[in-house]
Amino acid sequence: MSGDQGGPLVTGHAPGVCADVPDAGPSEKESIVGAVSSLLPVFPWDRLEPYKATAAAHADGIVDLSVGTPVDPVPAVIQQALADAADSHGYPTVWGTAALRDALTAWAGSRLGARDLAHTNVLPIVGSKELVAWLPTQLGLGPGDKVAYPRLAYPTYEVGARLARAEPVVYDDPTTLDPAGLKLLWLNTPSNPTGRVLDADELRRIVAWARGHDVLIASDECYLELGWEADPVSVLHPDVCGGSSEGLIAVHSLSKRSNLAGYRAAFLLGDSAVLGELLQIRKHGGMMVAAPVQAATVAALGDSGHVAEQRERYARRRAALRTAFEAAGFRIEHSEASLYLWATRDEPCWDTVGSLAERGILVAPGDFYGTAGERFVRIAFTATDERVEAAVRRLAD
Ligand SMILES: Cc1ncc(COP(=O)(O)O)c(C=O)c1O
Repeated sequence: MSGDQGGPLVTGHAPGVCADVPDAGPSEKESIVGAVSSLLPVFPWDRLEPYKATAAAHADGIVDLSVGTPVDPVPAVIQQALADAADSHGYPTVWGTAALRDALTAWAGSRLGARDLAHTNVLPIVGSKELVAWLPTQLGLGPGDKVAYPRLAYPTYEVGARLARAEPVVYDDPTTLDPAGLKLLWLNTPSNPTGRVLDADELRRIVAWARGHDVLIASDECYLELGWEADPVSVLHPDVCGGSSEGLIAVHSLSKRSNLAGYRAAFLLGDSAVLGELLQIRKHGGMMVAAPVQAATVAALGDSGHVAEQRERYARRRAALRTAFEAAGFRIEHSEASLYLWATRDEPCWDTVGSLAERGILVAPGDFYGTAGERFVRIAFTATDERVEAAVRRLAD
């Protein structure tokens, strides 16, 4: 399962069985079991299962372009660092080793242009999905507070708002939102699913608006190193934030850029007051990154060679798939960055999913990311060269 799936959510109220409390009535049992999961949206990926079965029945096997999970090896330098730290017998710290914090600030300076960050401006997290899901709760948001995210978006922003019992709000342009009650504004650049990038001017405008209304920005930048026709810029770049991280946190992950989805390696950068608060809460909650993963993260951030190599692989696969889908009658929108092509044949997305499944190709329906995506599909180029070639052949038939 990739970061954008996670695992099947139990939705609705499961029947409670509690042998130790014989007198408890059904409503009391239900108030515990299902009280949280029933707040959440229905887990959408189960709906894709029949199409997956159709695609898997293809004589030459399925080409699965539905999920954004890495298929290439973990770079040797990272595996080595993990193995070297295998004898990690003591508890790790939530804030991470000094070596990890040094690696995070150094990378933020050299890669993002955020040169003035100190250790108080960094915080390791256990993969970025957990942070996205729990940030509103850890910030103490609740009923009466609003959490906003793009109209077409990674579903976990909504999940996070709902887990906190805050109000989820979608936007096209965040600066047109009513700031009353708005506490947290998610940006996602480059975007999953559209691949759209917010340029420095756009980000600067949004940051000024959010600061003016005392709204915290969380900018999910996990695809930042995967720009193709755009050069994504961080919210922490001085051209955007004016050299101050006040009111801003950037969320980064090594899952995509370093093929580390299995390690759960990610981190936050930004406002020291916010990160200090999260550190306290996460210490109490025991939200530690495993020590070998901390060591692997240091190695991953210190080596840009594997990132360039992986980019080359994705660039080739992307070009091949883009050409093949366009020749097969698809129109691609945005997609200037990230690991996806956002494509349409101007028909309902489930029709597209169905006809591609007949050819043994599985893609994600756009309505997984919001109703605005109901005539699009998301095509991931996280498949091996051999599977990408198979898709190209099938699309040409
Ligand atoms: C926009 C976005 N944010 C966060 C994540 C979570 O990534 P991870 O938990 O692997 O860091 C994903 C994964 O697909 C994503 O697409």
